[in-house]
Parts: sequence; structure tokens; C-alpha cells
Amino acid sequence: MSCYEIEGGRPLTGRLTVQGAKNSALPILAACLLAPEPCVICNCPRLSDVSVTLEILAQLGCRVKREEDRVTVDPSDLNRCRISEQLMGKMRSSVIFMGALLARLGRAELSFPGGCELGPRPIDLHLRGLRALGAEILEEGGSLRCRWTDQREGREICLAIPSVGATENLMLAACGVPGVTTILGAAREPEIVDLQNFLLALGAEVSGAGTDRVIVRGGNRKLHGCTYTVMGDRIAAATSLCAVGAAGGEVELTGVEPEHLAAVLDCLEEAGCQIRTEKDLICLKSGGELRGIGPVRTAPYPGFPTDAQAILMAALAGGRGTTMFEENMFSSRYRHVDELRRMGAQIQTAGRAALVIGAGALHGAAVTSTDLRGGAALVVAGLAAQGTTLVRDLRHIRRGYEDLEGTLTALGGKIREVPEP
Ligand code: UD1
Repeated sequence: MSCYEIEGGRPLTGRLTVQGAKNSALPILAACLLAPEPCVICNCPRLSDVSVTLEILAQLGCRVKREEDRVTVDPSDLNRCRISEQLMGKMRSSVIFMGALLARLGRAELSFPGGCELGPRPIDLHLRGLRALGAEILEEGGSLRCRWTDQREGREICLAIPSVGATENLMLAACGVPGVTTILGAAREPEIVDLQNFLLALGAEVSGAGTDRVIVRGGNRKLHGCTYTVMGDRIAAATSLCAVGAAGGEVELTGVEPEHLAAVLDCLEEAGCQIRTEKDLICLKSGGELRGIGPVRTAPYPGFPTDAQAILMAALAGGRGTTMFEENMFSSRYRHVDELRRMGAQIQTAGRAALVIGAGALHGAAVTSTDLRGGAALVVAGLAAQGTTLVRDLRHIRRGYEDLEGTLTALGGKIREVPEP
């Protein structure tokens, strides 16, 4: 097992192109099942979650080829509808295959997706929505057997929570359902717009993504293959920006839409960073010592993203002044706090709230990634801290960051992968 060794306290300066978005690439790869022809997905990040998704596609009978950031998925021989428990357990977002398989083959056999380090993550909204569209879903032990009944028909489905995954699953399933499906209370995240754009490129009839009302007219068009470029990853962008904000320096980021990061940019600006944006460009300059800001409350898009909570917290923990965080999306998303405390951070938590009292500067320590974004937060803290930080358990980080060490080294950071002592 290897870990990151980071020599902190150096400014980060340079230009970066942001990787393709993990949370777009995963549903788009699953959606490749919908058409019986090959799709080429460009700007597909090299991540372990993407590798698991490609393994699932291969297990279902697709031919899959990866060349650099291009992935070709040929589902013309798709002949299996069962995903092994072993692959389902590796990644929560594998649940998206339920909608894709129902749309293409009318059947799906899979298990409940693996447990999650962020706390319980039910899929009740996915199941309720699919049943409303006419799916019969039998839950036996940990497995799910799904098939369409003759009640299959488009209708209005109202989501009680704007769940990203449920919205995407229903969009995919609805492509195989005759009539009009309207998803009310839909999630409005940019990744849902990206999925809609991919479905349009396949020839599907979908509209409304980006609003809380997504409409799919399914079942009456033959879908075809396409070439599609995945959008830039707003959370990977937020990670680089927070790192430069905390360590000091100047960065020009391309490959990501500034509007997707509006909530994060507002916080960094309030904390003392100078920010300039143009289409597809974000420039950030920081003196290195961030100040405390007004409450940061995680919320569905366009609110502050839960995926950037740990990362911003790490940046502010080594600054001056206090900031209150409120985590409203997941129940167990402060596991990085104990690790940040080892680096000198002063953070008190109570339920959903965390009070960060800027410690002036953090110091290096040996810490362990607790989850994907928690791990990235420790890297951000390590780059700004005085001395050497060891970040152990890189498995989590590799789920969502393509060559994080290379990206940060290119900015002048001192970070390298070393064998775990
Ligand atoms: C997606 C993102 C994840 C991000 C999250 C919230 C992907 C692959 N992952 O996860 O990075 O942190 O959105 O922005 O895109 N819920 C239910 N029942 C359900 C489904 C969800 O109660 O059936 C709840 C969840 O427990 C959570 C909230 O709804 O509290 C939002 O979750 P959801 O939007 O579904 O997150 P994911 O799609 O799993």
C-alpha cells in the first residue's frame, strides 16, 4: 500500500485543465446500454470507479475499449442482465444500471449497492419511481430482480428529495417506457444536464434537465450510437481551487464551467481569494491565509455541494477566524475532522454542525483518508501545512481523482506517492 508524502507550505502556481466529471461519466457509461450501437465517450477520467463501471459493462456482454481518455462501449451483443454482487458492492452508483438495463432489456438482476462511508444511503426513491413506471421489483435477501410488467407506462413521478441518482435512474428507465414520464422534484445538478445531452445525442427525447421537472418521451424512437464529451469535474476543480486558496499562489483553470462552481467561488472570494471568471476559465489568486466566512450550508444544486464541504473546511482550518458548517445531505460526513485535528485544526462538531476556528497554520502529521472527498481534504490541508504530511489509504482518492499528485506537482506542490512506512 502506498501513501502521499506532502511537503507543505509552498505556494501553488500554474495552469490546469480539469479532468472529466466522475459523476457525469458514471451514469453516461451506464446509459451507453440504451442504444444497440457503439458509443465513444471522450474526456472520460481514469478513475477506479470508472474501471468498475467498465467491468460491469463487460460482464453484461458489452465490448469495451479504453484509449487514453476515450472509452468505446459497444453494447450490440448485450446479452446478460445480471451484475455480480462483487461488482455491485464496489461502488454505490452501480445502482444506475437498474434503469439502464430495464430500458434496454426489460430486466435487471443485481444486488443492493455496497455500504457507504457517508452513512446510510437508501435507494427507496429509485425503487418507488421505477415501480410507478410499471417495474416489478422483487427484493430477496440482498438481491433485486426487476422486470417490466404490462403496466409499463409513462406517468408523473414526484421525488420527495431531489436525489441525483434517482433522477438519473428514472431518466434512463423512462427511455424504455412508452408515453410521457415527468419527473417532478428532480435534482438540478449539472451532471443531470450532461446526462440529458448524452441521451439527446443517442436520439432520445428528453427535456427539462437543470430544472426540477424532467420530461422523457420514451419507447417510440430507435436510439443510435454517438460520440460524446463528458463535462469538466466541478468537484475536482473545487479541490484545486481550495488547495491554491489555502497554500497561496495563482491558478488558471480551464475545462470547467464557472457557473457550476458559483457557490464554492463565493465562499473562496469571501475568504479573501481574488477570483476572475470567463467562459470555461477560472483564475484564482490567494495570499495563503484565508479568513473565516458566513455559514456554509450544504444543499442540493445550486446550493453549496456536500462533495466540497470537507475540502473547503480543510482550507479554512489553517486560516484565521471562525466558520460554521452545516452538513444537510449526509449523516456521516465529518469523518475527516478527527484527521484534520491531528494536523492542529480546531474543529468542534455537534450533529449536523461543525465550527471551524482558524488555527493560523496547520502542521504536518500522519493521517488516513476516511472517504473520497475526506481524503482530498487531507491533501489540501497537507499542501498548506508546515512540515511533512503523510496521507494514508489512497484507495478512496483514486475513486474520484485522476493523477492528483501529478496535477498538484504541475502547480509546484511537493507531493509524491511513497510506500507506506
Ligand atoms: C450523488 C453524487 C454524490 C453527491 C450526492 C449529493 C454521483 C455518482 N454521486 O450521489 O457525489 O454527494 O449526489 O449531491 O453522482 N436519498 C434517499 N433515498 C433515495 C436516494 C437518496 O433518502 O432513494 C437521500 C440520500 O440519503 C441523501 C439525499 O437523498 O441524503 C441525496 O442523495 P442523492 O442525491 O441520491 O445522492 P447520490 O445520487 O447517491
